Parts: sequence; C-alpha cells; structure tokens
Amino acid sequence: MQRAGLFVCFFDPVLEAHLQRAKAALREFKLDRIFFLPCMFKGASPVLPDGEDKTEMCKRALENETRMEAGASFRTFSELSLLFEHYVQRYEGCEFVCLMEDSVAERLSQKKNERLFPKDLPIRLVGNASGAGRGKPAPVREDAGGMFPGFSFAPEEKTEKRRIRQCICPEGIPAGELAYIAEKGLYLPDHVQEVRSMISAHRWTHTLGVRATAVRLASRFGVNMLKASLAAFYHDCAKDQNIKDMRRIMYREYGCTDEDILRSSALMHGPVGAAIARERFGVTDTEVLNAIRFHTTGRPDMNALDLVVFVADAIEPNREDYPGLSEIRRLSKTSLELAALESLRRTREYVLRQGKAFNPQGEETIRALENRLRRGL
Ligand SMILES: [Fe+2]
Ligand SMILES: [Fe+2]
Repeated sequence: MQRAGLFVCFFDPVLEAHLQRAKAALREFKLDRIFFLPCMFKGASPVLPDGEDKTEMCKRALENETRMEAGASFRTFSELSLLFEHYVQRYEGCEFVCLMEDSVAERLSQKKNERLFPKDLPIRLVGNASGAGRGKPAPVREDAGGMFPGFSFAPEEKTEKRRIRQCICPEGIPAGELAYIAEKGLYLPDHVQEVRSMISAHRWTHTLGVRATAVRLASRFGVNMLKASLAAFYHDCAKDQNIKDMRRIMYREYGCTDEDILRSSALMHGPVGAAIARERFGVTDTEVLNAIRFHTTGRPDMNALDLVVFVADAIEPNREDYPGLSEIRRLSKTSLELAALESLRRTREYVLRQGKAFNPQGEETIRALENRLRRGL
C-alpha cells in the first residue's frame, strides 16, 4: 500500500453518498485504500449508535468494497490524533491523506490550543454527504496539519437520520448496514423514555421482544425493517392507559360507539395506540399507524407489515408459554398468514372456553385469512 486515505466523518449513518465520495477520493488523490474512521462527538443515548455500532455500521456498509475498510471510532480530536499515529506506524512507508467532511472540519476549526495532527498529514475536504452546511467549507487552522484543496460534490443527497426515523428513504443506506440499524433499534424516535414511562416494566420487556422479533420477521419476509421496528416499538403504548381516556379517543378519532369495544381495553389499545403514536409521537407513516392499530384483531386485508407486527406480538421470546405458542413459532418460519391465522384461532378458542364472545373484527380476519390461504395467495 503506497497511499491511503483516512476518512474522518460522523457516518451517522454511513450513506451511499459517503461511498461515492470515497470512490471519488480513491481516483482523485490516487489512493490505494481508504479507512473509515467514525466520529462520536454526540452524547450517548440509547437510540444513537455508540462507537462499536459505528464501526459495525461501517463494516456492514463496506462489505462489498475491496478498497475501503472500517477503522476504529474516536470521541475527541486527541483520540483521532492517536489513531493517525497508529496508522502511520502500522503502515510504515505509506503516505496518508486525511479526508474530512465539512462538518468535521468545522469542529476542528473551533479547537484552539491543541497540536492536533501529524504535521505532514494533508487534509482534504470532501463535502458533506447529508448536504448539511453545504456551500461553506470551514476554515481549518493551518497548525492543525494544513488544509489542502479537496473537491466538492453537488449536495443532491438528502438522506438524514431524521428521514430514517420516518422510514422514508432506506435506499440511501447500504443494505447490510440498514439491517444492522433495524436490528439494533438505532435511530428510533427520541421517545424511548416516554413510552417506557407509559407502560409497566413487564410490558416494556415485551415491547423490546416484539420489536426485535418484528425486525427479524421483516428481514425474513422482505418487509421494510424500519417500519416493522417503529410499529412494534409503539404497538402497546396505550395498553396501560386509563379506560376513560381510551373511550374518549375511540369516539373522537374513530367515531366508535360500539359498547362491546368501548368496554374492552384489549380491543381499544391498538387503535388508541395508533392515535397516540400519531398525535404525541409524530408518526406519520400510514402503514406503521395501521400496523399498530390492527395488531390485536387484525383486519381483513392485512398487509405484510400488519402481519409481521401481529405475529411478532404473539411469539416474542418473553411470552410465557401458552397453548399453541410453539406451533405459531414454527409456522412463522415459513408463512406469516398461517402463523397469524393459528394465533387468532387459538385466541378465539381461549375466549370461547371462558364463555365470552369473540370479537367480530377478529372473526372477520380469520375468514379473510382462510380465504386468502385457500386461494393460495
Ligand atoms: Fe397489544
Ligand atoms: Fe403486545
């Protein structure tokens, strides 16, 4: 290896745009290899990626790239300086260039009295993948290592983590990395504590189990994993709400006057949860809201996301054993429809054995799933 780039960036998350910049830098600066070094400037939060996550996200994003490699993450410029020294020593004789996004360079320019980088490490600005702060490259102090002209990209990419939260454009993120983000629940909305405070400890554990299971099922059946993660995260947020409040929301949001429904928090918490997710937590995606709304009764035209959340709710690993659980789990390996149908039939059996009436919505869902399976859809 003769020449290598050390790509310093937040990678929050790694975008296809970063890969494009790295490819351009390989060409432009005649580099043999680029190491991705993710920054960790932000405070720790349960939903933001930590250093290990960032490195893993880089690994997954670069799994098909032969000339790019994930490196260690760093928190401070002093740590970054140590990392640079590490690379210089490890690859003796190799000439290094630091590739820096404008946003990181801006931070660097704010540092006052530190000797930051090896003197002979040129810094090249490579624009901002997220398009943030575009058009005004930050001045980097000369004694920080010296800044050399880089190249600029048109900031056409608009993918940001805010958009991941809205499940809008996962196509801007390499597939392997996206799977990791969904699996780990990274970039969930900032309502973790609020949702946690609305439900019992037991239900919180259940919620985490449903989220993880929903992402796994989504991955297995080709469903949007971010949507599955989000819907599962909120699915039971209304379960421990006061029944009077639930009734009020049912009337206001859905014009519901059906006394059988208005008596049952089991039947109301799905629709009420969807209303809360929209109003209080700002969820706008209709598919996500519907998956929350119908997670207890299902609905005749259940789509794949509805089924994923419905089945995940029934089989998550923290569930205490109940008749039919192992069969539903087995069916969920091959068919969401079969697993959902089995789950509904078992619930119906249980309700009828207790001398109660099974809800008509659930009954309709059973009929619709039976028809769908009979038609081989
Ligand atoms: Fe529920
Ligand atoms: Fe649940």
